[in-house]
This record gives sequence, C-alpha cells and structure tokens, in this order.
Amino acid sequence: MRKLRKEKKHKEDRFMSLNKKSVDDFNAKGRRVLVRCDFNVPLKDGKITDETRINAALPTINKLIADGAKVILCSHLGKVKEGPNEKESLAPVAARLSEKLGKEVKFIADYNVTGEDATNAVAAMNDGDVILLQNTRFRGKEETKPQEAGEKFAEELAALADDYVCDAFGSAHRAHASVAVVTKYISAKGGTNAVGYLMQKEIAFLGNAVENPVRPFVAILGGAKVADKLNVINNLLEKCDTLIIGGGMAFTFLKAQGYEIGKSLVDDEKIDYCKEMIAKAEKLNKKLLLPIDTTIAAGFPDPIDGPIEVSVVDANAIPADMEGLDIGPKTAELYAEAVKSAKTVVWNGPMGVFENPTLAKGTIAVAKALAETDATTIIGGGDSAAAVNQLGFADKMSHISTGGGASLEFLEGKELPGVYAADDK
Ligand code: 3PG
Ligand code: MG
Repeated sequence: MRKLRKEKKHKEDRFMSLNKKSVDDFNAKGRRVLVRCDFNVPLKDGKITDETRINAALPTINKLIADGAKVILCSHLGKVKEGPNEKESLAPVAARLSEKLGKEVKFIADYNVTGEDATNAVAAMNDGDVILLQNTRFRGKEETKPQEAGEKFAEELAALADDYVCDAFGSAHRAHASVAVVTKYISAKGGTNAVGYLMQKEIAFLGNAVENPVRPFVAILGGAKVADKLNVINNLLEKCDTLIIGGGMAFTFLKAQGYEIGKSLVDDEKIDYCKEMIAKAEKLNKKLLLPIDTTIAAGFPDPIDGPIEVSVVDANAIPADMEGLDIGPKTAELYAEAVKSAKTVVWNGPMGVFENPTLAKGTIAVAKALAETDATTIIGGGDSAAAVNQLGFADKMSHISTGGGASLEFLEGKELPGVYAADDK
C-alpha cells in the first residue's frame, strides 16, 4: 500500500527535469539500436546474486522490442583487471535476461566484442530481436579517458547500430567508449542518441530531491569511503535542511571537533575540510547532526560477520585502544527523530559495519525510520542499497538507485557523461 501511494504521489513529477531525448522521442521501428545497460551484477559461482540492475533495465528493452527495433545490448561486468576471462563474461546475464524477457537473447561470446561474430549476428537480426554483446571492458580501453583504442572501440560499437540509448545509470559517471564516446559516431551518421527510462527515473528522483525538494529535506551520509563521501557534503549542505553523518566518515568529523577517536577510521587530510563544513553549516543555519554515542570494539570484525564483543560509549569518550564501528543507540534515536520530521530524505552510506549483525543496529534503525515515514525516501546505490535490500526494507522506499558512484557524483552536483552525451530535446 505504502509503495503504491508513494508511486502515485510522484507520478506527475517523476519525468521532469531531463531535457534529453528519450526512447519516446524517436521511431525505433526497424532500426538497429545499441543500448548501453549497467549489467555489472554480483556473481557467485557463475550465478547472479542480485538482479536489481537487470530488472531495472527491462522497461527500456521491452519498449524497444515493442517498437520493433533490433535491440543490441552492451555492458561492462567487473573491473577486468587481468584481461578477458570467462568469470567476467556476460553469458549468465544473457541467460537470465532471456528468461525475464520471455524471448531469446542471443549472446555474442567473442572477446573482441564488436568483431565478425557481432557484425554477422546484427546483420541476421529481425525486428524485435535482442542480442547481448560481450563485456565491453574486454576491449581494455573502456577504463581510461578516450584515447586511440577507446576511440576505435567507440567507432566500432557505433558501426553496429543506427541509434544509441544510454540506460546505464550506474555507469553514467564514466566517460567511457560505450557510455559516452560512442554518441559522437552515432551523431556523425545522423542517428539519435537518447536516454532510457531507467536514466529518466533516476535523474527525476535524485534531481527532484536535490533541486526541488519538498521540505524539510534531510540528507543522511555514511559509509567507510571517507574521502569519496566528503565531497558530497559541500553540495548537500547547501540544498538540505538537515545533514546527518554516520558510518566511518563520522570519526573524521568527531576528530575535527577535538574528540579522541581511538583506532577509529579517520582521514587526517580531511580534518580541516570537516572543520570548514561544520562552520559552513552554522553559517547557513543548517542542522548538522553527528554521532553522540558510538558502538566500539577492540578491532574490526574478522571475518566481517563473525562474533564480536562490543560496548557503547559517548562520542567524546572513545578509549585510545578501541575502534568505533557503528553509531550508538542514542544517536540512532536522534537520527530517527530527524527523519520523522522530514518530507524528503536522501540516504547514502550505512551507519556502521552492517554486514555484521552486532554492528548493524544503527543502519537498521535508520532504515526503519525511512521505511516508516511517508516522506519521499531515496536510497543511493552501492552499500546503502545493499543494506536496505539485505535488511528487507527495499519495498518500503520511494526509490533505490542502481548507481553507487553515479548517484554520489550526481549528489555532488557533477554532470554525468552518460547523461550529457545524449541529444538535447
Ligand atoms: C558500479 O557498479 O559501480 C558500476 O557498474 C560502475 O562500475 P565501475 O565502478 O567498475 O566503473
Ligand atoms: Mg563502482
């Protein structure tokens, strides 16, 4: 019920703000349409363990099938650090996607991605057919800035198609051959570069929250990647009413306040930055909430979900030989209270080591508070999405982003290459 209500509430404004051509803005009938998806899904023993990104790609693929396009899908998978290998092949994705679409998805297993196999398969396609190319990173130069090999790859990808659709929100922050550079070659031959429904939905939710939030707007940031996350604070402080900090990054703030933080995670180079942000919050008259207590242990759990002995201390009283690993119960209550009064909430990053049941309490408390509010609740991808899924709150949120790094860069106010490469309306 709650979910339905939320979806209804957002119906009118969901597709606002993106002045880019979409799959609704061109006639795909009989056209060869290259679609960049983010099928970078977690795999264990060749089995997909989280299908969120595949499910999220279906609306655009189904629309193009219904339009009678020849649908050529591509994606990266993993980092491909040691060159092409079967473990990072997209074969399992093709099989699962085929089941979900209820039709054949022909997989082009060739490590060359755009080679003869792909060219022949495309030439043999009928309208409404779907093929999936091999992992784009098997061509190597996806990873780096456009350079000769990357350019060549982009040109070859474009040669397979008439039009291009970017629906890979999770990869939209990468200026890669298959995400952005390919558009140049599609344009050169008069084709259309559009965004898909997933891109539209992500930008509508994240964009509305940041640029046009129903207030009060509460932003919650956590996670261990201190340096990565700190940059988003500057932007969100200006946009939100209350900024809540938890997770590993909170300790750098506590240290900036002059507290002893023991062995807790810290980014010493960012202490001055934290001081600036504390001052900025005061100047802008924004609430900046930091932990008032913390759950501590003698060290990081090993294995990560193994048993661990913990205690709770006030945030200004962490013993020198102890490490803070979760927000404490008083902090959890404080944060939940702040969420209760919000109309818009954006959350990126867990409050503690949520993979461990003993250290998941802070993250659960925040997830619960979000699940119980009628506010628009938006979860950044990556760890926060994993936490919400793992804890069973996924269907209680208004929107869970499929992009970790991408949603973070978006919240930092950066332009995403995968978005701006598409044609303007
Ligand atoms: C992700 O999962 O972060 C996206 O698929 C992008 O992958 P990348 O971080 O390896 O570029
Ligand atoms: Mg990433």
